[in-house]
Parts: sequence; C-alpha cells; structure tokens
Amino acid sequence: MSHVRLVNVTKKFGDVTAVNNLNLEIGKGECFSMLGPSGCGKTTTLRMVAGFEDLSEGEVYVGDRLISSPAKNYYLPPEKRDFGMVFQAFAVWPHLSVYENVAFPLRIRKLPATEIDKRTKDALASTNLLSAAKDSPENLSGGGKQRVALARALAINPDVMLLDEPLSSLDPHLREEMRFEIKDLQRQYGFSILYVTHDQAEAMALSDRILVMKLGVVQQIDTPLNVYNKPANKFVFSFIGLSNFLELVWGVNGAPTLKSEDGTPSSVPADILPSDAVCGAQGASFSIASRPYEIDFVAPDSGGLKGVVSRKSFLGEIIDYQIKVGGQELRVQKGRRAPGPEVGETCALRLLRPFFYQ
Ligand SMILES: Nc1ncnc2c1ncn2[C@@H]1O[C@H](COP(=O)(O)OP(=O)(O)OP(=O)(O)O)[C@@H](O)[C@H]1O
Ligand SMILES: [Mg+2]
Repeated sequence: MSHVRLVNVTKKFGDVTAVNNLNLEIGKGECFSMLGPSGCGKTTTLRMVAGFEDLSEGEVYVGDRLISSPAKNYYLPPEKRDFGMVFQAFAVWPHLSVYENVAFPLRIRKLPATEIDKRTKDALASTNLLSAAKDSPENLSGGGKQRVALARALAINPDVMLLDEPLSSLDPHLREEMRFEIKDLQRQYGFSILYVTHDQAEAMALSDRILVMKLGVVQQIDTPLNVYNKPANKFVFSFIGLSNFLELVWGVNGAPTLKSEDGTPSSVPADILPSDAVCGAQGASFSIASRPYEIDFVAPDSGGLKGVVSRKSFLGEIIDYQIKVGGQELRVQKGRRAPGPEVGETCALRLLRPFFYQ
C-alpha cells in the first residue's frame, strides 16, 4: 500500500502553474526523489505535502487518511502531520545549543520532559552529535549544522521525511558522505523519504525511484536504472548525465542525413540509428542522443561518423573532446590513457548506444 499519495495535484500562483496535475505514490520505507531544473515545482510539491502550501486542485493522502483537499475544504495543519523536514536553506538556531535545537519541536509538541530528553539524545546519537550537544551550532562545520537539522527532523520519529536539497550547501566530499548517512538513518528508523534535488547523481545514489519534472509536469517516474537507461524523452535524457544530440533529417530512401550549417545535407552511416528508430517522411527531423563516454574513436576507413576535433581538454582521469560533425558539435570523453586524435585532425566516431527521439 502506498504511504504518501498525491492525486491530480495542481498548484497555481496567479498565472504560473507551478505543479500541473501531479500523481504519485510513495511506498512505505521508500526513498523517492524529485529531480528537475530550478523552478520546475519541486519545493512547491514538498510544501504542499508538508502542509505549508495549500493545493489549487487535487488531494494528498497519508495511507488512507486524507490530509489536503480543496474540493472537500479539508486541510490538516503541518504540526499535525508529524513529518520530519529539512529545508533547502537549512535553518539551525544559533542562539540555542545543538541539544535545544533538536529538542525544540518536541517542546512545541509538549511531550513529557523524560520523553523529550530520550528522543533528543537518540537523535543526537544517530547523527554523531552527542559530544557537541552543549555547543552552539554556529561552531559546527556545514556538515555538522546539516546533521543538527537532520537530528531535529528525526527527533519527532517521523513516518515521512521531507528533504528539500538538504545537502546543497555542502562541499562535494561531504555531500557524498551525508548521502550514505541519510540512507543509514532510513534503514535504522524505517521512514519513507520524499527527497528533492536538482543533482542527478544524488538522486541516483539515494533513491528507489526518481520523478523527473519539467515546468510542473511529470516526465518520468522510474527506478534510477531505468531513468538512466530508458529515458522517456529528450528532456530526461539531457537532464540525466552528460548528453549529446545530433539533429538529423530523413533523406532519400530513409537515409539519415545531417543538417549542416550551409543547408547542404550530408549523409551519415546508417548504423548510427538504434534498432528502435522509426523512419519518418523524407525531410522530417529527428535526433540521435548519446552520452560522451559512449562514443568510440574508430579507424577512419571503418565507416564511422566523420568529424574534426575542435577542442581537446585534459580533465584529469579523462580527456574531453569537442568534435565538429557537419555544423554540429559532439562531446566525447575517453580515459586519459586511450589514444585519441589531436585538435584539427579528422576522426571517425561510433556511437555505442544511441537513442532515437522524434
Ligand atoms: N509563493 C510563490 N508565489 C509565486 N510564485 C511562486 C511561489 N513559489 C513558487 N513560485 C513559482 O513556482 C514555480 C516553482 O517553484 P519551486 O520553488 O517549486 O521550484 P523548484 O523546483 O523548487 O526550484 P529550485 O530548484 O530553484 O529550488 C516557479 O516558477 C516559482 O517562481
Ligand atoms: Mg526548490
């Protein structure tokens, strides 16, 4: 049974439709991420689930229980939803000790003093903060402050954790570490997670399923593997990992033809097409997508896609090439030890796993 369920949820701010007819179900104990570019409606969705934002249309349920419905004029206030929350700009209160920061939501709920103490200490222990209990959070590093925010959310024993870019202010190394810590805490406490990020690697690493959103509209809801391997459309492909698109047209007898700068079409090898490509009318456009690390350099006489190296950058472990193919650019990435062409040289390319988008 689903734990959190959104049914036909829409949110409008004046003329802006921030979230458009969203349907999603989060399973019990599932880590569900919402991924999408800035302004696509992630925070708005989270705030509607939390109860900080009303809905324009639709319903939100926790289990069988309705918690928001404008049509039924029903709205359960946030403090009665008992969700743990960590916001985009994490707020810890500098005038309170680490201990008091974590105890605060429990005091608001007027729990007995012994219960407050126990839960606060448990949450501090889970987040490795016991030794800092008396300190001001101001003295902690970014990761430490982040832990305080997490501990505060954990202390209420939430069934559901709503995390809005909780790691966005940390450096990459700490971010990675905290990802694992969040997963460990989930295992320990068993809560469901609705996680918001625009970092695709973070979403991939943490999630059981990912929702990719664009301008308030769902593009795909799937496992990380499927979102990566079977992106539903061009937008999802371009949002997950590095991407290349070659814009082509169907030529005579269904030959794939490159749209070139000066308008003269040039044919490209037919093996550039994946097996699921559907031939369209002559002159119709389509795209071939590929990841930069899924392109090989092949021998010039082996019939690959011809191009000229316009830039070659050393990025440590990998070399990043920009290749001009007709009037278009492709990015290719190869391990630094692999032999590759130099700037100005002609090369031939093979796309290892091309995707076809009409
Ligand atoms: N209170 C508000 N009043 C008016 N418009 C709003 C309000 N809150 C959000 N919006 C608009 O709704 C849309 C979605 O915003 P939202 O904050 O949900 O995006 P987001 O996906 O969280 O973006 P980011 O990655 O930058 O945090 C944006 O166009 C935003 O300008
Ligand atoms: Mg946001």
